[in-house]
Order: sequence, then C-alpha cells, then structure tokens
Amino acid sequence: MAKNRSEAASAAWDKALVNNYGTPAISLVSGKGAVVKDVDGKVYLDFLGGIATNVLGHAHPSVVAAVRKQIGTLSHVSNFYSHPQMLQLAQKLQSLTGDAKAKVFFCNSGAEANEAALKLSRKTGRTGVVAMQGAFHGRTMGALSLTGQPSKRDPFKPLIKGIVHVPYNNIAALRRKVSKRTAMVIVEPIMGEHGVVVPDAGYLKAIREICNQSGALMVLDCVQTGMGRTGQWFGYEAEGIRPDVITLAKGLGGGLPLGAMIALGAASELFAPGDHGSTFGGNSVSCAAANAAIAAIEREKLLPAAKKKFTLIKKELQKAPGVDYVRGGGLLIGIVLENDDAKKVAANLATAGFLVNAPQPNVIRLAPPLNVTMVQVGKFVKAFTAVMEELSHG
Ligand SMILES: Cc1ncc(COP(=O)(O)O)c(C=O)c1O
Repeated sequence: MAKNRSEAASAAWDKALVNNYGTPAISLVSGKGAVVKDVDGKVYLDFLGGIATNVLGHAHPSVVAAVRKQIGTLSHVSNFYSHPQMLQLAQKLQSLTGDAKAKVFFCNSGAEANEAALKLSRKTGRTGVVAMQGAFHGRTMGALSLTGQPSKRDPFKPLIKGIVHVPYNNIAALRRKVSKRTAMVIVEPIMGEHGVVVPDAGYLKAIREICNQSGALMVLDCVQTGMGRTGQWFGYEAEGIRPDVITLAKGLGGGLPLGAMIALGAASELFAPGDHGSTFGGNSVSCAAANAAIAAIEREKLLPAAKKKFTLIKKELQKAPGVDYVRGGGLLIGIVLENDDAKKVAANLATAGFLVNAPQPNVIRLAPPLNVTMVQVGKFVKAFTAVMEELSHG
C-alpha cells in the first residue's frame, strides 16, 4: 500500500508508463512562477524549469491569456493554411537573427529541429557531418546520430553513416575532420546535457571560419541555450557571428511544445516544397504562447536580468563547501562539485524543497525561470549551502 499520494503516483507510473526514464518520486500538480506543488501539498522552488524550458515559470498571466484566447479562437489548421500567430512568430524569430533572409521551419521538439537541420544539410549535395563528443541533440534516429554520447547511441546502432564526433572546444581536432564533403558542423553554444560546459571565447568564431573555408553549414543547436536563457536570445551572439542554421525548442513555446529550425542566408533557400514537414509544427496555440512569452521576456527585461543574476548566483554558490567552481551563462548554470556527489546533492535539495538535476556525477544544473526573483535565489543559495555543509560533515 502506498504511504501517500506521491507513492501512489509512482506506482501508477510503473503500471502505465514505459520504463524509459525511471520512476519519478515526485508528482507535480500546480505551479506559479518558480514555485510548484506536489500531490501531497509539498511546495518546491523549481530551479530546473522543466529542464530549461519554462522561461517564464508556471502560469505566467500573459501566456495563460494568449493560450486561452487562441484555443477559443482557432485550433489546429495544418500546413495547408497559414495563421497570424505562426506568421508573427516567424517574423519575430527572423528579426531576432538579424538576417532579413532567415526563414523558419516549425516543428514540436529539439530532436525534430535537429532532424530538420540534418535533412537541410543533405540538400547541399554533401553527406558528411561533424558533431561534438558529449553533445546532446535528441533521441530520434537522426538526432541520436548527431548526439555524441556512446551510452545513448550504442544500444541503437546502426545509426546514420558519415557522422564523426570530435572533442568539444578543440579547434584543431575539428579542422582535421571538416572537408569539402562536410555538409554541416553542429555545435551547442554551451553543452547543456553534458554538464553546462562552456567553450573558450572565440571557439564559435573559429568554427565559423572553418565552415566558411569548407562550405559546410554551421548549425548551432540553441535548443537549451535559446530564448533568453543565457541572457542573449540564442546564446551565441557574444561571438559576433552568423550561423547558417539555428535550432530551437524548449523555451520557445513558453511551456508548450514547439520547435523551430531557422535557416539563415543562402541556407534558407535549400528546402523546396515536399522536402520536409510536420503535422503539428507551427500549431496556433503553441505559436500564440511563444509570441506571448517573447513579448513578456522583452517587457520584463529578462535578458539583462539573467546576466546579472548569473554573476550574483555564481559569486554566492562558489562560497559553499565542496564546490569546485560555477560555470554557465545567464540562468543556465553548472555547479561543479569537488566530488561525484551531484545525485545525492540533488536528492537532498529535493527533500529540502528545491528542484535541480545532476547531468554529470559531479555537476548540478540550474535552469530556473528567467523571472525567478532574487528572494527565491537567496533561498536557494541558503538551502544549497546547508546541503553542502551537511555533506562535508557527514
Ligand atoms: C541542446 C539540445 N538539443 C536537443 C535536445 C532535444 O530536445 P527534445 O528533447 O525537445 O527533443 C535537447 C534536450 O535536452 C538539448 O538540450
């Protein structure tokens, strides 16, 4: 017999859901901003944000109003027809890239956005791809082929041929593998799933130059870094470059499922009618949520705020015992621990009422909503420090 509703939810999960994630111990029922509540009424501060997805947290009034209005006005239309929310969003994304030639393909997830990029690259007439060791680009067979994590790839081989993985942040290794046969180079501006790994300044710029020399498309997977999370819209802007393709999902839909592949410059003309598609891509409700989320991020000035919050959080968390250093950008933060305690730290934080995750044995990832308050940040810093102090004594 389950002791409480959380245990009953875990038992229900075991009976009804495929065992591909492991059984969640926590079952959430409601949320407001960065605060969520579970089935037993326990309240948490959500510093994971649906894994870097809830840019505005839960139940943001603008997103709620936009979704309500759209679902009561026009639901799904298919890609035989356009609708104003999709056009508005595509135009906005185009303008955020700074490239008037940029064109958008809408889908539903990060994996699909990367699948679209992979297919687009085939239209160059080339088939080679260079991706990064440790990178995460999704779980569908194309995206998995791009993903540079053997544990995720190996059970599903054979994958797509012609994709090689080189060490991240290593320009010489990349240069050796990129040739006139390379259709695309794909890279995350910060490797999120690999533990919020930040490359050296100039890395993306060097990739741009290598791609220019070989004619390969430069694809930036901004699924995790995008939509303001790092204090920039996509996460690469500080490098002063223009990629050929940007992929987005996670934060794009303001909490609703939505992905996008943005092709810039000449790459925007590679797809022709019939080359690719998605039934739900560009769904009117998801696009309405995205438009509302982007407007709120601008109105609430959350991009500069994310940068400020990073500086503050970094300074405070680095003081905690057992912390080696803190890395990341904006509100995508990796706390690198001195020991492989990340799973235990995440579990102890959950007990204390704070949600985070451990993408690596020694790394805690934080990706709270961009509108997380400084009071909430203060509470987190206090709880994290207490958990680390307890661990250091224990
Ligand atoms: C950088 C990156 N690309 C792609 C994906 C896959 O996105 P999705 O789970 O929406 O397919 C993720 C998901 O974590 C990601 O972090």
